[in-house]
Amino acid sequence: MSAVLIPGIERVLFTEEQIEERIRKVAAEITQNYEGKTVKLIGVLKGSIFFLTALARHIEVPVSIDFLGISSFSNKSGAQGVVRIAKDLDESIEGEEVLLVEDIIDTGFTLRYLLQTLAGRAPNSLAVCTFLDRNSRRIVQVPVDYRCFEIDDRFVVGFGLDYNQLYRNLTYVAVMKPDSRQ
Ligand code: IMP
Ligand code: MG
Repeated sequence: MSAVLIPGIERVLFTEEQIEERIRKVAAEITQNYEGKTVKLIGVLKGSIFFLTALARHIEVPVSIDFLGISSFSNKSGAQGVVRIAKDLDESIEGEEVLLVEDIIDTGFTLRYLLQTLAGRAPNSLAVCTFLDRNSRRIVQVPVDYRCFEIDDRFVVGFGLDYNQLYRNLTYVAVMKPDSRQ
């Protein structure tokens, strides 16, 4: 199906078909690496829910799911990357095989905070799967075990990613027109 462009969108970066194909490949890698185990997918609200559900449907080992919500902001002195948990997990992850599922890793601040927090809860293993990776803007180094796509330094929306809480429901990933973001 061809994507219907909406105002504010410059061009489609990844189509629904390209996304589906990459997700199947990443899910197959995960299936292989967790053979004989149960994996707990932890989604970071709200951006990762579209990716997490698409990914989970193609993983062929037993899967459980939990979510956490975060808020990130700059503090009064302007320090970047201050993150806190706004909605915690429902269940313990102690002794479990945890796969943290992110929509996009940009500076790495969010992921570093989440990995530190989750590691402190004694999972048996802790790995990271991200839909998009914008490595060129990384400020703190973080481990990424699985990624669907590496992207350039352009703001993108769709497939879970938002601009002012909009566009998450697009079936494709698109680059925003620079002048439609203020
Ligand atoms: P960071 O890695 O801590 O810088 O933060 C990553 C978070 O910033 C993501 O989880 C998104 O919520 C948001 N983000 C970064 N780049 C984009 C983008 O291009 N579109 C939409 N959200 C973005
Ligand atoms: Mg996010």
